[in-house]
Amino acid sequence: MLADKTVVLGVSGSIAAYKAADLASKLTQAGARVNVVMTEAATRLVTPLTFRSLTGRPVITSLWESSESGIGHITLADTADIVVIAPATANVIARLAAGIADDMLTATVLATRAPVIIAPAMHANMFHNPVTRDNLARLRARGFTIVGPVYGRLASGDTGEGRLVEIEQIIDAVREVLKRSADLSGRHIVVTAGGTQEPIDPARHIGNRSSGKMGHALAEAARDRGAEVTLITAPTHLPEPAGIEVIRVRTATEMREAVVEAVKEASALIMAAAVADYQPKNPAQAKIQKQSPGLTLELVRTPDILSEVKGSFIKVGFAAESEDLVANARKKLAQKGLDLIVANDITEPESGFGADTNKVTILDKQGNVESLPLMSKREVAERILDRVVGLVLTK
Ligand code: CTP
Repeated sequence: MLADKTVVLGVSGSIAAYKAADLASKLTQAGARVNVVMTEAATRLVTPLTFRSLTGRPVITSLWESSESGIGHITLADTADIVVIAPATANVIARLAAGIADDMLTATVLATRAPVIIAPAMHANMFHNPVTRDNLARLRARGFTIVGPVYGRLASGDTGEGRLVEIEQIIDAVREVLKRSADLSGRHIVVTAGGTQEPIDPARHIGNRSSGKMGHALAEAARDRGAEVTLITAPTHLPEPAGIEVIRVRTATEMREAVVEAVKEASALIMAAAVADYQPKNPAQAKIQKQSPGLTLELVRTPDILSEVKGSFIKVGFAAESEDLVANARKKLAQKGLDLIVANDITEPESGFGADTNKVTILDKQGNVESLPLMSKREVAERILDRVVGLVLTK
């Protein structure tokens, strides 16, 4: 797994920096090409020579010096199969969360498309500070994998949660993330997102509160696992994700057409979109004026995309429920002929519309029920894709 992989190992200025030498050594022994990037603070704790001797490769300590070694941050970023920051201080975590790129380490992380693992090490008080928690949550939501810290003795002599995890655990995470980073390569995954809009007249529509975040997280996570991704999205306020084919639609009917076309070569269809169940029967051609005291709209059913679309691909649906979560989801799984259904309770504020987090239960055809804890939508996406990968491979 590690042989012939290029790992950028970022070392920042925590007392635990000396442990990174062991990590660099073990990764090198496992066959990886390890490019060590040190922050200025880290070089005060461990010498670059230590890492150069262990890896047999140049060690980069500044954005300016890099031009001499011939390895710029873009080259480093492009050639990396994975970036590991161990130890990561609160300072580096804050700068990464803010998108700052003022040294070789942060510039490389900002420029890379490779997966990033962060192993924090800091005093427990800094780790528990809400600012650090928010920064880590932001990185996690962007797909970074955070390992640790763990509870134990800290450099200050105190004990608390802030200690770097064991090096073996970082190596396990590297193996796991590398495995994930290619497990959908060569596969085409279609994801839908957002809430459809069903026109009443040229100015108005029937809509719903879907933000599109879950669908975007799924599309980005599938892309990062090597899939070719088509994202069919109803209008959202989200920026267009890079490296993904985006098809914009408005209504349920338009979404059906786009899905039918897109699934022809697909390994999986994941319907995270909130598709309107009803549409106005005859949308007015001109804007409806408020003449009468009341107004009745006649609604008709929209096409049920998931039920209609057929093929040999894996079908995943979502069920937004406000009561009887598992029972209702199970019914939809069977009715729509799905392989998996992801149910969430929309009455929970942290897993409702527009939230960055979600708490879901995944049900499969065999009757298994997996209830996940509250996590970022990106992490939920990874867990759903873990299941999809399993199904795609055994199909
Ligand atoms: N879906 C679809 N076509 C529709 C409606 C929904 O493909 N016309 C998909 C959704 O994208 C989602 C799943 O079916 O994956 C949800 O099923 P649905 O029966 O609509 O459940 P809810 O949206 O939870 O709503 P309701 O309980 O009102 O049926």
